[in-house]
Amino acid sequence: MKWALLSDVHGNLEAFQAVIEDLRKEKAERVAFLGDVVGYGANPNDCLSLLEGLTDWVVAGNHDYGSVGLTDIDVFNPSARSAILWTRDQLLPESRNYLRRLPLKRQIGETTFVHASPNRPEEWNYILTFPEAEEAFRFLTGGLAFMGHSHRPSILAKDKDSEVQVVPHQEAVLNPGIRYLINVGSVGQPRDGHPQAAYGLYDEEEKKYRLKRVGYDVAAAQEKIIKAGLPRFLAQRLSRGI
Ligand SMILES: [Fe+2]
Repeated sequence: MKWALLSDVHGNLEAFQAVIEDLRKEKAERVAFLGDVVGYGANPNDCLSLLEGLTDWVVAGNHDYGSVGLTDIDVFNPSARSAILWTRDQLLPESRNYLRRLPLKRQIGETTFVHASPNRPEEWNYILTFPEAEEAFRFLTGGLAFMGHSHRPSILAKDKDSEVQVVPHQEAVLNPGIRYLINVGSVGQPRDGHPQAAYGLYDEEEKKYRLKRVGYDVAAAQEKIIKAGLPRFLAQRLSRGI
C-alpha cells in the first residue's frame, strides 16, 4: 500500500488542491489526514468537503476540536484564537457535525496516526525537544507513528534503549526493529522556512518514507485571508513559511 500522509491544511484551499493533484500523480492508494483541516485559512468548508471526498482515515487536530468547542481555545495564541472564532461563524452545520465526530487517534497494526503526540493526544503536546520525543516513544505502542501539529517535518528514530536520533534527511528506509515518529509537516501553513506545501509518502511494502514539497498559488490564499478580515500576519507568514 502506498500512503499519502497529509496534515494541517488549515483552510488553505489552494495548497490542499495542489497537494491532492500531486498525490494523484504519485499514485498514492490511500490517504491519511492527521488533523487541523480548519483554522487560520479562509476556506474551512471547502477544505472539509474536499477532505470528505478524499479519505475517511482522519484524526482530529486542536483547531478542528477548538472550532466546535471540544477543546479550550484560551490556550491558543491571539491570531489562532481570532481565526478560530471566525471559523466557528463560517462552519456549516454539516461541517460542525463532521468535526465533532473525528477521533483523536487511529491505529492500523503497528502504525499510529495522531495529530500531536501518541501520549495523551487530547493535551496537544508538541514534540520539539529530545525529552519530549523520549516521552512520546515511551507511549508509542507500535513501531511507527505519523503526526503533524508543529508544522515542521521531521523523522525521529529510536533503537531499543538508545537515545532518540534525528534522521538528517526528509526521507528514510525504515529499519525493522527501530521505531519511528514521523512529522509530515503542513499542507496549508508550513513553518520550516519553506512556503511550499508539505506532505509525506510512505510505501508500506518497501518501507520507504519521503517528504514532498508542492508549490501552490500562495498569493491567492493570502488575498482571501486579508479579504476575510482575518489577522494579516496569517497571510504574511505563508510566503515565508513561518
Ligand atoms: Fe496546525
